[in-house]
Amino acid sequence: MGKRLVSLVVAVAFVAMCPLVRGAEMGKFKYKDFKKPKRCGMCHKQIYQEWRQSLMAKSFTHAWDDVEYFKLALPHAMKFAKVAGVKGGCIACHAPLAFLTGDIPPKPPAAGTRANEGVSCEICHNITGTTEKVPFNFSYTIEPGRVKQGPRKGVKAPHGVKYSAFLRSPEFCATCHDEASPYGAWVKTTYREWKAGPYAKEGTRCQDCHMYHGPGVVAWGRVHKDMAHHVFHGAHFANKLAGAVDLAIYTEKKEVAPGSQLKFMVELFNGKVGHYIPSGSTEERMLWLEVWAVDSAGHRYSIPVDKKGFKGEEYTIANSKAMAYQAMGEIMGIKGFKGIKRDGDAPDGARIFRKPFLDPKGRMTICQWYTAKNTLVDYRIGPRETKMETYTWKVPTDIAPGPVKIKATLYYSLVPSSVGKFLKLPVSEYTPKLVNTATLQLKVVKK
Ligand code: HEC
Ligand code: HEC
Ligand code: HEC
Ligand code: HEC
Ligand code: HEC
Repeated sequence: MGKRLVSLVVAVAFVAMCPLVRGAEMGKFKYKDFKKPKRCGMCHKQIYQEWRQSLMAKSFTHAWDDVEYFKLALPHAMKFAKVAGVKGGCIACHAPLAFLTGDIPPKPPAAGTRANEGVSCEICHNITGTTEKVPFNFSYTIEPGRVKQGPRKGVKAPHGVKYSAFLRSPEFCATCHDEASPYGAWVKTTYREWKAGPYAKEGTRCQDCHMYHGPGVVAWGRVHKDMAHHVFHGAHFANKLAGAVDLAIYTEKKEVAPGSQLKFMVELFNGKVGHYIPSGSTEERMLWLEVWAVDSAGHRYSIPVDKKGFKGEEYTIANSKAMAYQAMGEIMGIKGFKGIKRDGDAPDGARIFRKPFLDPKGRMTICQWYTAKNTLVDYRIGPRETKMETYTWKVPTDIAPGPVKIKATLYYSLVPSSVGKFLKLPVSEYTPKLVNTATLQLKVVKK
C-alpha cells in the first residue's frame, strides 16, 4: 500500500465512523490522477456506450440527485451539526471524483466540472478493497494509476491489468449500496438483503443480474463470449421492473349478486429480484397494488385491501389524508409547513409495499440522512417471497348486470408524486411504472 492510499483509507474510515468530519480531510488525490470515461471509451467502445446510459453515469447530474443534494442535504448539513457529515458523504458515492479530490461541496452539475463523471470507469476499476468486514458507507480503498482492476486472469492490454476477486464480488457493490445514517439507522441494505436471501446461497451475484454476460467486443475487436455488459439496469428502467413480481387473482365464485359480498385473493411472488423490492433508496420507493372493479356500464369501483392487523400497517395502506415529509419544509425554511400527501396519488385502500423511514421527530421522511428509525414495519417483498392479500368487496346494489372485471395492477414509483410535484422534479422522475396486472372476470346476476 502506498502512503497516499493509507491516508485515504484512514480518512475514509474516519468519515464512515464520524458523520461530523469536514470536507478538507477527504481529498487525497487530484482530478488528473483519473482518466475521463471518454478516454477509456476510445478502446472499450461497447462498454462505454452501455455505461453512458446507466444511472452510474448520471449519479451526480440527474435532476433528482441534483435537487436532493443542493436543495435539501447540503443546506441541512450546513446548519445542523448532527448531519454535517453528509456534505461530503453523499458525494463519496454520487460524485466519487469530487470526494477523492476534496472538491466538497462540488459545484452543481450545471457548472460542468469533473464531478459530473459520477461513478466512472476509473472509480470502479481502481477500487482495490474495503476497510470493513461487511462493507457499507463508501468504505472503498482506491489506487489510481496505470494498472486497472479486472475480472480475468492473464489479460494483455496497453495498460496494466490486475486480476481482482474483489471487483467480481457483491462486497464490491456493497461499499456504495449499503448505508447507515448519522443516527445509525440502516438506510440502504441491498447487499445485506441479498446476503440473507436465496441468491447468495446459490452463488448468483449482483454482477450476474445487473451486468448480464454475453457476447461483446471488449476492446480492439477482441470478442468475449461472456463479456460483462455495463448496463446496470435497475428501477429506473421499465424493462427491468416489468414482470419483476408475478400476480395471481382468484376467487371461489363465478357469479355475484348486487349487494352481496365477494371475497377474493391476490398473490404476489417476487421471483426475479435478488433482494427486496423495493430496495436501495427505500425511503422514497413505493410499490403499490390497486384493485378496481369495472362493470358492464363502465363504472369503476376502487376495492380496498383487507387489513391484517400488524404493527405499523397504517403506513402500508394508501390514505389520501395522511400527511408526511414535514422535514423537507423545515430544511427549506417554509414557515408553518404541515407536510404533503404521504402516498402520492395511490388510491385510498391500495396496499403499499414499503418500509417507512421516520425522522427524529417520528414523522415519515424521504431524507434518508435524517432517519432516526426505520424498523417499525418492513412490508416489502423479499427475494422469492410470496405475499397474499385478501379483499372483501361489498358489491354495489346498483351495479350494472352482465360481466364485471376485477383488475389488480401493481405499480412502482421512484419517489411519491406529491414529493416530485412539491420539489418540481421532471415528471419522468415520479411517473408510476407498471410492474404487472392480473384480471378476474365474473358475472353480475340478480339474486
Ligand atoms: C488504447 C486502448 C485502451 C484504452 C484507452 C483503455 N483500454 Fe482497457 N483494455 C484494452 C485492451 C486491448 C484490453 C484487453 C482486452 C482483452 O483482451 O480482454 C483492456 C483491458 C481492460 C480491462 C481488463 C478486462 C478483463 O477482461 O479483465 C479493464 C478493467 C480495462 N481495460 C479498463 C480500462 C479503463 C478503466 C480505461 C480508462 C482509464 C481503459 N481500460 C482504457 C485497451 C484499452
Ligand atoms: C459500478 C462499477 C463499474 C463501472 C462504473 C465500470 N465498470 Fe467495468 N466492470 C465492473 C465489474 C464489476 C466488472 C466485472 C464483472 C463481473 O465480475 O462479471 C467489470 C468488467 C469490465 C471489463 C471486462 C469485461 C469482460 O467481461 O472481460 C472491462 C474492459 C471494463 N469493465 C471496462 C470498463 C469501462 C471502460 C468503464 C467505463 C466506461 C467501466 N468498466 C465502468 C464494474 C464497473
Ligand atoms: C462508487 C460507488 C458505487 C459502486 C462501487 C457501485 N454502485 Fe451502483 N450505484 C451507485 C450510485 C451512486 C447509484 C445511484 C445513481 C442515482 O440514482 O443517482 C447507483 C445505482 C445503481 C443501480 C440502480 C440503477 C437504476 O436504474 O435504478 C444499480 C442496479 C446498481 N447501482 C448496481 C450496482 C452493482 C451491481 C454494483 C457492483 C458491481 C454497483 N452498483 C457498484 C454507486 C455505486
Ligand atoms: C436475481 C437477480 C438479481 C440479483 C442477484 C440482484 N439484483 Fe438488484 N435488481 C434485480 C431486479 C429484477 C431489479 C428491478 C426491480 C427492483 O427495482 O427491485 C433490481 C433492482 C435493483 C436496484 C434498484 C432498487 C430500487 O428499488 O431502487 C438496485 C440498486 C440493485 N438492484 C442493486 C443490486 C445489488 C447491489 C445487488 C447485489 C448485492 C443486486 N442488486 C442483486 C435483480 C437482481
Ligand atoms: C453509501 C453510498 C451513498 C451515500 C452516502 C448516499 N447515496 Fe444516494 N444513492 C446511493 C445508491 C447506491 C443509490 C441507488 C439506489 C437505488 O437505485 O435504489 C442512491 C440513490 C439516491 C437517490 C435516488 C435517485 C433516484 O433517481 O431515485 C438520490 C436522490 C440520492 N441517492 C441522493 C443522495 C443524497 C442527497 C445523499 C446524502 C445525504 C446520498 N444520496 C448519500 C448511494 C449513496
